Amino acid sequence: MNHRELATPAIEHHARTVPLRPFRRSSRGLLATVGLLALAGCASDAPLDTFKPQGPEAQTIQDLAVPVFLVAGVVFVLVLGGILWLSLKYRDRSHGEDPTDPRQTHGVIPLEIGWTIVPALILAVIAPFTVVTILDLADQPEGPEVIDVTVIGQQWWWEYQYDLDDDGEPDIITANEMVIPAGVPVNLHIESRDVIHSFWIPALNGKKDAVPGRTHNLTIEADDPGQYRGQCTEFCGLSHANMRMRVYAVDQAEYDTWVAGQLAPAPVPEAGTPAAAGQQTFIQACSSCHVINGLEPEDYQGAPLVSGASPNLTHFMSRTTYAGAIFETYLPPDGDEDAQYLDIIENGQFDRAQLEAWLRNPPGEKPMAPTPNEYSDGLGRGMPNLNLSESQIDELVAYLETLE
Ligand code: CUA
Repeated sequence: MNHRELATPAIEHHARTVPLRPFRRSSRGLLATVGLLALAGCASDAPLDTFKPQGPEAQTIQDLAVPVFLVAGVVFVLVLGGILWLSLKYRDRSHGEDPTDPRQTHGVIPLEIGWTIVPALILAVIAPFTVVTILDLADQPEGPEVIDVTVIGQQWWWEYQYDLDDDGEPDIITANEMVIPAGVPVNLHIESRDVIHSFWIPALNGKKDAVPGRTHNLTIEADDPGQYRGQCTEFCGLSHANMRMRVYAVDQAEYDTWVAGQLAPAPVPEAGTPAAAGQQTFIQACSSCHVINGLEPEDYQGAPLVSGASPNLTHFMSRTTYAGAIFETYLPPDGDEDAQYLDIIENGQFDRAQLEAWLRNPPGEKPMAPTPNEYSDGLGRGMPNLNLSESQIDELVAYLETLE
């Protein structure tokens, strides 16, 4: 006897209505997930938004990404809609009472040819635009106004070396944040000192890996003065997530002032002041890693501008952030996280408590591995706890405060 013959009208009624329930329950979950994802895309103030280009390079990417995204969106809706429609139309309505397969068919030649050729055509149309965009972005502009900056990824911060006179030697060395003039192309030459990092300021260009032993070029330019944030996007160890960066674009006059300030030597603290004591502490405790230009005591001769594994601190107070740009030197004026560079430097309130906490126990403030031999090369990574006394910390902060 065929089980189909057993079906009573009651079961048939059952079969028509009940199987929809599990679908409704799972569809609620699906709706919630899709809704959450959609809402997550609504953040109005997302500093790493890839769809808000603020410079010509980022705009070039946008001009390619948006049409490709639209085409992909149409394909997505057609394919997924088709799958959903077919799944619903041909679903098993017998509620498991009739597990026999539906009639099997194979191949509709016009359709088979169609969905082979159409994707190939779409790709063939997109490909030349993609290649042209890639070549366009790879071209670095030339000219006297163009600025060259070597970017060095390190565990876990970024070093920027400005070569102002094109002699191949760095003239300004800073960390974590770059100050650039708005409307001027900046040619970056990206390197790494240790592992692979990835440099990414989404508003100004795409991301570019920093690979040891290689130099990768990337050009950034900001249309307008402003603050542009970024994040290392290649996993590089313990504090990968704490390896951020910023670009401050300023007008040309502000940039010239900034350059002059960066080229000036560090001030010498007056004898007998806390800052002078702090300078001595710096020489004893910090100078085996950190460099301050011109600070060359007898036991500290021929100091290079580049210390290697640690930021050059000559103009520490001219930076709005430190420790991989995770701490702010100044509380932003009026709590405005997007404040302009000069506004922060001039009107922000110096966050002494955070700097003291950092000096008291750096690995406690930011995950680091400063103990030698934790890595196979026997070197530590990041700033160790130097067990400074409270008075040493006070004096060090007094000294750092003079480094404008
Ligand atoms: Cu550097 Cu991740």
